[in-house]
Amino acid sequence: MKLFVDTAKIEDIRKAEEMGVICGVTTNPSLIAKEGGRSQEDVLKEIASIVDGPISGEVKATTVDAEGMIAEGREIAKLHENMVVKIPMTAEGLKATKVLASEGIKCNVTLIFSANQALLAAKAGAAYVSPFLGRLDDVSQPGIDLIESIVEIFANDPEIDTEIIAASIRNPIHVTDCAMAGADIATVPYPVIEQMTKHPLTDIGIEKFQKDYIAVFGK
Ligand code: E4P
Repeated sequence: MKLFVDTAKIEDIRKAEEMGVICGVTTNPSLIAKEGGRSQEDVLKEIASIVDGPISGEVKATTVDAEGMIAEGREIAKLHENMVVKIPMTAEGLKATKVLASEGIKCNVTLIFSANQALLAAKAGAAYVSPFLGRLDDVSQPGIDLIESIVEIFANDPEIDTEIIAASIRNPIHVTDCAMAGADIATVPYPVIEQMTKHPLTDIGIEKFQKDYIAVFGK
């Protein structure tokens, strides 16, 4: 399973990139809005200069018609060759996905909460689907079940080459579960990546190695 970082915060993207663990970035309107009023265009261009991999930028949250999404999608795609256009999972979004995909523009259909939504997005030509597992967990529906269903449905259909991006990841257990379920990608907030680096026994081990080393060799 590949790892993307789910943020528009440049500092966090740099840190994840320097660690060598991510190969893509996803953003959304809420994440872009947190970046102090910077335009999405500016933020996406800067991200593209840091990470050499798929970068999802979403159409405007207020754009709900296919025509509008297609026009914005074309502009997002022009920003950089690695750009992926994120489209909300609606009937209009599917229409936009079909047109953009036919033009060779990669689409990431987002806000997927059911297996049928993922199937429709794949049929419309999405390069990626983003099922949101954390938000399902929040309403007491096991998000991992959705990931498992989509993995199985896509594996059963040789026509589908859409990749599954497990999204709305809230903790390291989500990441492990998604990897075990067969998701192609997990898009992970940077604080969760940091949590994934840690284990109390690692810290205890480092401390003991340092103590033993210093006792014999000094600093
Ligand atoms: C997906 O690409 C979204 O950006 C994201 O994972 C949403 O996560 P949230 O539910 O934590 O907002």
